[in-house]
Amino acid sequence: NTAAQRRSALLAWYRAQARDLPWRVSPGARAAGVRADPYRVWLSEIMLQQTTVQAVKGYFDTFTARWPTVGALAAAPRDDVLAAWAGLGYYARARNLHACAEVVARDHGGRFPDTVEGLQALPGIGPYTARAVAAIAFDRPVVPMDGNVERVMARLHAVETPLPAAKPELARLADAFEGGEDPGDIAQALMDLGATVCTPRAPACVLCPLREGCAAAARGIAADLPRKAPK
Ligand code: ADE
Ligand code: SF4
Repeated sequence: NTAAQRRSALLAWYRAQARDLPWRVSPGARAAGVRADPYRVWLSEIMLQQTTVQAVKGYFDTFTARWPTVGALAAAPRDDVLAAWAGLGYYARARNLHACAEVVARDHGGRFPDTVEGLQALPGIGPYTARAVAAIAFDRPVVPMDGNVERVMARLHAVETPLPAAKPELARLADAFEGGEDPGDIAQALMDLGATVCTPRAPACVLCPLREGCAAAARGIAADLPRKAPK
């Protein structure tokens, strides 16, 4: 099956199965033209670095109720932001969060840059987060590579090279998901697929929209991939 068929199967699955998360715009609303707020997408992505979706939800609601815009967050005393962050861990993230809000408010008129390069120049935003925000908030045709997406790619193509050496190859394979409609939904669909179906230990291949044409499922080796280099 072709790359276009894979993308459309993935999008159809996502539209039916998307997790309802507070920083997302539902597929129905997106179809009606609603787009995700870059501030909310950015805030969620920073919170989700090293923290689970379940743990992030409450913090996300607290932050957005208290500071509904990047300008409001920038104007808040840094100590208030750090105190509200308590419990999420990794305080460097909270300091960078506030620094980033200040730069966006002061140097960009309160609007996030809409390119991967522009986003990556901001404090606390690395390659993954820049691509996630660019795809989800600005529909840039890029796939953010996290552990979930790497696992899906390794299995689809039965990549036997162990991690981390396989990373560049997995990123190239993900390029096949980059063209076409709705890059933001494609990115989030791959994240959800890795989190809920193509899980590390016992992938639910019978429920997977990419089952047809998945090399690892065909060979019965899905749960063995990706391989990891011995420590
Ligand atoms: N993990 C990182 N970003 C995410 C997102 N936008 N949705 C779900 N899980 C994620
Ligand atoms: Fe993962 Fe199985 Fe889907 Fe392949 S068929 S992508 S191994 S869940």
